[in-house]
Amino acid sequence: MSTTPKQYAGYTVWLTGFSGAGKTTIAHRLSATLTSLAHPVEVLDGDAIRASLSKGLTFSREDRCENILRLGFVSELLSRHGVGVIVSAISPYRSARDMVRGRIPNFIEVHVKCSIGECERRDVKGLYKKVRAGEISHFTGIDDPYEEPADPEVTCCTELETVEESTAKICAELIRRKLIT
Ligand code: PPS
Ligand code: MG
Repeated sequence: MSTTPKQYAGYTVWLTGFSGAGKTTIAHRLSATLTSLAHPVEVLDGDAIRASLSKGLTFSREDRCENILRLGFVSELLSRHGVGVIVSAISPYRSARDMVRGRIPNFIEVHVKCSIGECERRDVKGLYKKVRAGEISHFTGIDDPYEEPADPEVTCCTELETVEESTAKICAELIRRKLIT
């Protein structure tokens, strides 16, 4: 029996979009799918990273970019060692996303697209309600910018697609690029 571990080409699937668009949901569904195929996967979620590696960072432009660079740094290390990384972070600034794109091998940008109206209607965490009550400011899509990806590898329209359909689209791109079989 061979003891040589199976080698995988690493990659990073970078999910960007509004709060409530479905990034975290898609990330975890994709992670489960890839894990069932015995692929090594790590999910880096904005909320979780802000409670650890990016603890103390605010939602200013500068701090959001710093957060993205930190996420990118970890993604690059993991990707280079054969891990399939799934990042779910609003990552609102195109320049910051493009900076990490340039550093990470096999970078796949996924626009998790949903109108701000629908995100507010869903309001899964009650954050939009707090924004309207004046308790949160600088909220992406309301009073803080979101720069849509100009040419993402995949777009998931979560108002029109199921989580399964969005996940399948991303998997199809990974297969097309021969990153998974
Ligand atoms: S960023 O812009 O990429 O640095 O943001 P990220 O690390 O993904 O963190 C987004 C989560 O923080 C919560 N939250 C806010 N989001 C946007 N704007 C403001 N002002 C804000 N304040 C708190 C919210 O839970 C985001 O999580 P998601 O999963 O996107 O809903
Ligand atoms: Mg989330």
